[in-house]
Amino acid sequence: MIKAVRGTRDLLPPDTALWNFVEATAREVFRAYNFHEIRTPIFEDTQLFSRAVGEETDVVSKEMYTWEDRGRAESDHGQSLTLRPENTAGVVRAYIEHKLWDRGLNKLYYMGPQFRRERPQKGRYRQFFQIGAEVIGPSTAGSESPARDAEVLEMLATLLDRLGITGWTLELNSVGCANDRATYNEALRKALEPVASQMCVDCQRRAVTNPLRVFDCKVPEDQPIIESLPRISQYLDEPCREHFSHVQEILKSVGVEFVLNDRLVRGLDYYTRTAFEFTHGALGAQNAILGGGRYDGLSEALGGPPAPGIGFAIGEDRLVMSLQTSAEGAKAKPDVYVAPLGAGMNREAARLARELRRGSAIVELGDETFRLKKSFEVATKLGARYILIVGENEVKADTFALKNLASGEQVQVPRNELAARIVEK
Ligand code: HAM
Repeated sequence: MIKAVRGTRDLLPPDTALWNFVEATAREVFRAYNFHEIRTPIFEDTQLFSRAVGEETDVVSKEMYTWEDRGRAESDHGQSLTLRPENTAGVVRAYIEHKLWDRGLNKLYYMGPQFRRERPQKGRYRQFFQIGAEVIGPSTAGSESPARDAEVLEMLATLLDRLGITGWTLELNSVGCANDRATYNEALRKALEPVASQMCVDCQRRAVTNPLRVFDCKVPEDQPIIESLPRISQYLDEPCREHFSHVQEILKSVGVEFVLNDRLVRGLDYYTRTAFEFTHGALGAQNAILGGGRYDGLSEALGGPPAPGIGFAIGEDRLVMSLQTSAEGAKAKPDVYVAPLGAGMNREAARLARELRRGSAIVELGDETFRLKKSFEVATKLGARYILIVGENEVKADTFALKNLASGEQVQVPRNELAARIVEK
């Protein structure tokens, strides 16, 4: 038997109702904050990710699905392509390619699959889904303002509240800008020099090539050393400090709670200044529901003009896991099961179902070959609220027997009142 590839999975009903609920709610919230959708390709030139995300990151060095294209045309033969491991690089590429700076401040959102060859476990997949957003534009359009950081964070708090997710924590840090990064990297290198040989091989390499990435290390034996390293918060220059405190002030004034975590550096190289994660206690080891931050130098690193930006991506798989499934799952059930009774009744039942659906009812349709007992069994199994019997007598009288499957109450309802009666809760 052929099975879904390790780390990938099928999303089936009734769970897909939750996914739809999450996506519809996210779209609604994004609209209220004037974000618009962007869809970028699922695969891109490999260089895009190595330059944006960084060669030394786990994502680029270990986890990408990369292949050489075998196209016939000279132009694309042998081109190295990669399934997108994240969507920020693609959005910034599109920003540059389509000169989106002409539009001033761009507020863009996306939803879709991402791919990373990680070791699969609860909440960690090789194909996973992100809902993300990016605010990017020339600094004259206000893209660099701490007000943008705060707005994005407040929007996220609103979205999680709207979804009914409680118990999240916003962890906040500033990872500084190019200026302070240079001095901080120097300090890290110095601090690592005498101890690197006691660390894992990855850290030994990182200590030389990209010391900040040492903070990504998960090896338990390395943690005491990492704990003792200097923190970026001690190396922020004045403008970065000011930016960070401004973000915090706005968050306090709008009532979004956060905790400072100066070990939070995020696993991707493009971050500058504000970096954040929302974590959720109920998720286990993979407790980051979403992550994001500023990337003021990313456009330039990809050959574009200066374009400060900030964004985030929610791990939709993890978000859905943290939702109370029962409440929303119930919404996915049909309002009514239409049960044709006897030969020739499929046509009448189909007409009636069409009318009811136009009246906004969620309808499941039975079959005239089913006996009444079987129709009741199917309707009950589906969790329908009502069953509606469509027999010859009912059609003639234009009045139908509507039975509430939970209470057992049955009423005769004229055809033109049926939809209203069924959708009223
Ligand atoms: P990230 O932290 O790599 O950031 O991923 C964001 C979220 O995607 C994580 O917090 C997690 O919920 C989810 N995620 C990541 N890997 C997996 C996986 N293997 N299985 C399930 N869920 C996963 C980014 O991707 C940045 N592009 C976010 C961003 C946007 N920064 C600025 N703008």
